[in-house]
Amino acid sequence: MDKLLSEVLEIAQELFDEEQLSAPIPRVAPDEMRQRVDLSLASTGIPVDDVMARMRAVVRVTPRTSSRRFFNQLYAGRLEIASAAEMLTGLLNVSMYTYKIAGPMILIENEIIARMCRFAGFPNGFGIAVPGGSMANLVGMMLGRNRAMPNLRNNGADGRRLTYYLSQEGHYSVVKNAGILGTGRANVRLIATDELGRMRVDALEAAIEKDLEAGAVPCAVVATAGTTVLGEFDPLRAIAAVTQKHGIWLHVDGAYGGTLLLHPAARQKLDGLELADSLTWDAHKLMGIPLMCSMLLTRQRGQLSANFQETADYLFQADDYKLNPGTRSLQCGRRNDAFKLWAAWLNLGDEGWATRIEKQLHMARYAAARVQRETKMTLCQDPASTNVCFSVEGANSKQVCGALHDSGKALIGYGEVRGEQVFRLVTVNGHTEEQDIDRLFDDILAASGL
Ligand SMILES: Cc1ncc(COP(=O)(O)O)c(C=O)c1O
Repeated sequence: MDKLLSEVLEIAQELFDEEQLSAPIPRVAPDEMRQRVDLSLASTGIPVDDVMARMRAVVRVTPRTSSRRFFNQLYAGRLEIASAAEMLTGLLNVSMYTYKIAGPMILIENEIIARMCRFAGFPNGFGIAVPGGSMANLVGMMLGRNRAMPNLRNNGADGRRLTYYLSQEGHYSVVKNAGILGTGRANVRLIATDELGRMRVDALEAAIEKDLEAGAVPCAVVATAGTTVLGEFDPLRAIAAVTQKHGIWLHVDGAYGGTLLLHPAARQKLDGLELADSLTWDAHKLMGIPLMCSMLLTRQRGQLSANFQETADYLFQADDYKLNPGTRSLQCGRRNDAFKLWAAWLNLGDEGWATRIEKQLHMARYAAARVQRETKMTLCQDPASTNVCFSVEGANSKQVCGALHDSGKALIGYGEVRGEQVFRLVTVNGHTEEQDIDRLFDDILAASGL
């Protein structure tokens, strides 16, 4: 193990050096990739030294999401202390179902949840780490469904139509989850948005009333705090007034924007969150924690155990349910995603998060200002968070993004805004500097033939 560890550190150092020097690797077609690195498995094993050499080769050609020229996703960059904790997590390999097995890691997860609940305005809240925002949305949607139809968990649905409400800009996981939950993808009402891409409350109320008149059972409204393409925030307080009036569960998908709760001014965008029933908050996006690190929080304690509890005498043999998250979890065996977030929070404190977010927001404003200075570029709207959407006159964003990828200059994506395909630049990497943004724009202009 000693020898392996020192080799791992060597490979890691090589990766760090490469990240400094170059962009996130030119695109390599899958067939060529198989030629470059032998990935095939065989019935006879090979010596560990050869495996390490193979691993080194794979690391060299894996896209580098921590490069400062990676702008493609809602996550990017490396928060070093969290990565260090993640390496130790792998070595400890505890499963987060019981205190008996995970010991202090359970207390650490509870500590994080309590802190996040405080920022969410859920003083009586609780929660659990789940493998991703999509899963957190699944759990929030399930809680709403089970409250709307209390017999469903035990006996199945009673034949009435079950509906969900999501804005047209909301995340696709909500539609997928409706398929998983058995309520039907077609029963997710995609509510119209306003000119900035925020859910229209009048349209929401009209859709709910129409469904109620038709005898349907609304399970939950899923409001989005930080939409995937535009980074916009649905008006939570006004939406909560509608859900409270009709007694409907309000789940807030803050996978992306939940982190703004840690910024004293930007948290205003989530005004009214304290009225929601559940919240998705991904720490692996804006907070820079290595994937996966997602939390599902509920405003009231007890919701998760009431909907997930099962008997498993072989497993739950000591301690009460608070110390045995397996009794309130979607999973049985569960990865420890808490240690890395705790280490980062310990290091940064609440204040450090606010400073980090301020920098990320600054980079988005800086990029938006550059767009506005460029005569051939048009900004879709002022960035609400760290997404900057814009178009370039005469350029096809898909082609330009492809060209930048092929050349390895930068990784940036595109998205659809008001029917037009536009560039979507995301400034979540905490190490990004103004010169990185300028360089990206120079590359985009050059790749656009300007
Ligand atoms: C608004 C929103 N919700 C949910 C998700 C899904 O999160 P995850 O990738 O952690 O499953 C995303 C991912 O981009 C998102 O943007």
